[in-house]
Amino acid sequence: MLQWSGAILTALCLYPFLRFISFTVKAKPRHVTVPAPLPLSGYHAERDFLLFAGTNKQKPFAVSRTCTHLGCRVSYLEDKEIIECPCHQSRFRTTGEVVSGPAKRNLSTLEVTVQKDTNGRVRAYVVTL
Ligand code: FES
Repeated sequence: MLQWSGAILTALCLYPFLRFISFTVKAKPRHVTVPAPLPLSGYHAERDFLLFAGTNKQKPFAVSRTCTHLGCRVSYLEDKEIIECPCHQSRFRTTGEVVSGPAKRNLSTLEVTVQKDTNGRVRAYVVTL
């Protein structure tokens, strides 16, 4: 009985310590503003993301440039309309879906907010990382 009480007391004392050492602070979201209009190609490449203007019915959207295989920076191949990783040639659609591996997971999609002026014209795109 005494041993069980000691074990429970030890667990109760260790629990707050274990919670403390496993505590991580979430990174603050970063907002990157891309001025409008986008180039005629319809996309804009930043260090961390690719922003696409989207079609008439499609809203602007952005995908991460970090490959889901081993983390290389992907590039958009305009002529093939495909995103490709230079390291092991994983290919993704512009929406981030995997077309061919070795990557198995889609590229992360990022939130895009459109800023408009008083006339309703698009002034800028804000991508949240
Ligand atoms: S790191 Fe992109 S395919 Fe391997």
